[in-house]
Amino acid sequence: MKTLVGYATAKGSTRGIAERIAASLTTSGVEVDLLVLSEVDSVQEYDTLVLGSAVHNGQWLPGAVDAITRLGTTPSGRATWAYSVCSVGATSSILSPRVARYLRRAMPEPDAIQKLRTLAEVRDHRFFAGSIAPGDWPGFGRVVFRLMGGRYGDARDWRDIDAWAEGIGRDITQSRR
Ligand SMILES: Cc1cc2nc3c(=O)[nH]c(=O)nc-3n(C[C@H](O)[C@H](O)[C@H](O)COP(=O)(O)O)c2cc1C
Repeated sequence: MKTLVGYATAKGSTRGIAERIAASLTTSGVEVDLLVLSEVDSVQEYDTLVLGSAVHNGQWLPGAVDAITRLGTTPSGRATWAYSVCSVGATSSILSPRVARYLRRAMPEPDAIQKLRTLAEVRDHRFFAGSIAPGDWPGFGRVVFRLMGGRYGDARDWRDIDAWAEGIGRDITQSRR
């Protein structure tokens, strides 16, 4: 059986994380397909899923949400790991440390995670900080971003991402033994 590493990205930072997770799983001996979620019609050939999306306005991107709706009950029983790429990750942030500390406590999971929990066996959901460049955030959002101590740049914490992916690799290889 294979593992699907599916992702949705607007500007590419989530793709980079998905690629890193896929590479880590491959190193662990797991056979992986790396696919954009909007192109996934079926998960029949996968026994495990690692699904992630960039977060816009608190939610997964429409391409990822649509994929989850389209898949219906087919993920049922499949061990699933989910990750959301946004401004504030578990270990790093695009925003100021003070705002990040507050948001880590207050930030709700995107609705897509709740939906996934009803469809599949979600083993973990993790927030990773992504990256942001001048011009990515339009209009008033840019003002709010500045007020929250936002800094343009890449806040992805590769150590955290690698550790998470290695844990998944261990789980998958142990359960297949
Ligand atoms: C239009 C827009 C809306 C965003 N909304 C949120 C949000 O609601 N919460 C958040 O934590 N980050 C938000 N972000 C930050 C993105 O989640 C972050 O930049 C992420 O790395 C984007 O992933 P991507 O490069 O794969 O598209 C937003 C970014 C943009 C451009």
